[in-house]
Amino acid sequence: MAHTIFITGASTGIGKATSIYFAERGWNVAATMRSIDKGTDLKKYPRIKLFTLDVINEASIKEAIDGTIAAFGGIDVVFNNAGYALVGAFEAMTPEQVKKQFETNVFGVMNVTRAVLPYFRKKNVGTIITNTSMGGLLTFPLYSVYHSTKWALEGFMESLHYELRQFNIRIKTIEPGLIKTEFENSLHLVTDDAYQKYVPIAHQNMLDAYRTASPAHVVAKKVFKAARDKSFKLRYTVGRGAFLSLLLRRLVPNSWFFAGVRRTVERGIQ
Ligand SMILES: NC(=O)c1ccc[n+]([C@@H]2O[C@H](COP(=O)([O-])OP(=O)(O)OC[C@H]3O[C@@H](n4cnc5c(N)ncnc54)[C@H](OP(=O)(O)O)[C@@H]3O)[C@@H](O)[C@H]2O)c1
Repeated sequence: MAHTIFITGASTGIGKATSIYFAERGWNVAATMRSIDKGTDLKKYPRIKLFTLDVINEASIKEAIDGTIAAFGGIDVVFNNAGYALVGAFEAMTPEQVKKQFETNVFGVMNVTRAVLPYFRKKNVGTIITNTSMGGLLTFPLYSVYHSTKWALEGFMESLHYELRQFNIRIKTIEPGLIKTEFENSLHLVTDDAYQKYVPIAHQNMLDAYRTASPAHVVAKKVFKAARDKSFKLRYTVGRGAFLSLLLRRLVPNSWFFAGVRRTVERGIQ
């Protein structure tokens, strides 16, 4: 019987590319998204079924999980992918913006994970893959709150992997580098007069780096590898800049690494 993957945030970018990648390789795919009107391109794949799911709406998560099990006979892999970035000067961000970022990127992943765990535990097998970011293990300027959500996910998943191993549940994180998706268009940029010398230039330097970003299908390929990996390996790095940046982050002193980031991202700031 074909395996089934359940994907959040499948309307665009990495989630959409991963849905297609798995369907083309014979997997059943529950492509979940806030509005299934955005899933038109996926409808031509007979193995893909669309489900409405907002990661901050627990009822929608339950309905999508139940619907997937009814449609495909089970779920083998969950891919926590939905997320976005709040960017800019922290001081200018409202508490509501910060809460929404955490509700989506962190509590959303926890909601989906909590909802599927009893099912995986009862059948004594399952894999939960979470799209964190290389930004879950290092940081760049202006992404303080986004990074804190991704660092939270890395800590959450790393700790969780211990207690779930006894149930044969594999926890895996994907750390993409720069990937060409709708991500940069859906950034929520926040600034304030006090930061006018810094934010626009640093933000533009960050966006410039996206010109050479990797395509979304390279992440899909890595998710496919993680989904089929029967080992309990936790972390998978992929995409432009990720491997080298994370290696340097581990190997060189903090002061050197931070100076390198400043040289790149603060270029042109007086
Ligand atoms: N692109 C990169 O360089 C990069 C690098 C590292 C990690 N990532 C991570 O990769 C993941 C996917 O991002 P992407 O690059 O593919 O960007 P994207 O094209 O903007 O896709 C983001 C997806 O998340 C969905 N989403 C947002 N809020 C949601 C919610 N409350 N409930 C359900 N879905 C929601 C969006 O749905 P709507 O269409 O409804 O808005 C969209 O499908 C994110 O977690 C991001 O942090 C991206």
